[in-house]
Amino acid sequence: TLPAEITIYEVGARDGLQNEKAVVPADVKAQFIRQLAAAGLGTIETTSFVNPQWVPQLADAAEVLELLGDEGRGPRRPVLVPNERGMDRALEAGVGAIAIFGSATETFARKNLNRTVDESIEMFRPVVARAREAGMWVRAYVSMCFGDPWEGPVPVEQVVDVSQRLMDLGCDQLSLGDTIGVATSGHVNRLLDALGDKGIGDEVIGVHFHDTYGQALSNTLVALRHGVTVVDSSTGGLGGCPYAKSATGNLATEDLVWAMEGAGVRTGVDLEKLLSTSLWMTQHLGRPSPSAVVRALGTA
Ligand code: HMG
Ligand code: MG
Repeated sequence: TLPAEITIYEVGARDGLQNEKAVVPADVKAQFIRQLAAAGLGTIETTSFVNPQWVPQLADAAEVLELLGDEGRGPRRPVLVPNERGMDRALEAGVGAIAIFGSATETFARKNLNRTVDESIEMFRPVVARAREAGMWVRAYVSMCFGDPWEGPVPVEQVVDVSQRLMDLGCDQLSLGDTIGVATSGHVNRLLDALGDKGIGDEVIGVHFHDTYGQALSNTLVALRHGVTVVDSSTGGLGGCPYAKSATGNLATEDLVWAMEGAGVRTGVDLEKLLSTSLWMTQHLGRPSPSAVVRALGTA
């Protein structure tokens, strides 16, 4: 059975815009986030305080938060923070929630964080400690939970090990990243079972599927049936990681809301408002949304 209600963790403004060729101006980003909130999305990842040379698309993080004022802060407006320099910037901007982002594989840790897995965990340790001290909510992502473009399929035990080490830093939530979209339903169940066996239960887990193989929604349904209630998605299906070969957009929020409406699962999101926001953003980006639901509803 499916839960009565889910929490959508919207990543379009971060995962979506970090991967666009066009750099979206800060005021358009702020407007995007305001409209997402107005469409009923409660949790919105707003931006990243990463090295701006690594992700120039989000170099304007402080400016976006400044433009948003109180609307961009609080426990349900997380930002990505990889290291202490990022934490300094996040504190200065007054954020109330952060996300660290580890990797299940060595190759991607190197490519995305310029560190080994061990080194990256040590990099996160003081970040999480400072966040807790400041009373922030903390999420931990694990990337390459199912497969890695360089290393191939990733063993479940390896993902569980990194997940445990990240959660042991003192995080509130774990998001399972299928960075390149290769997960399938049986694999999702096996990973959730293995995490549960080690005490990381569905109640602290979010799922983060990219839609490269068109499996993001079916994988999400499997996770919801397992007991997960937090789902990451991006409006319009924007997204991807610039440091992961073959990563495409996330599960589109519209696809998720459409499916949940049909199943009688509450999301709090107004699909029409969301759709007009998404069409407005794709105009800015100069390319159509990859989401089938957006295409179907958007031309009706
Ligand atoms: P590094 O180059 O090794 O950093 O990057 P460093 O510590 O050697 O510092 C080099 C210079 O960068 C220094 O400046 C630092 O101050 C500066 P200098 O002294 O030379 O003048 N610097 C910074 N400046 C501003 N803000 C900062 C910062 N950090 C260093 N935070 C680092 C290491 C981890 C910072 C880098 O690799 C990085 O920023 N990586 C992030 C890449 C990224 O954002 N990827 C996308 C997000 S992850 C994702 O999309 C996956 C996810 O969606 C889940 C999934 O799908 O799986 C979450
Ligand atoms: Mg992602």
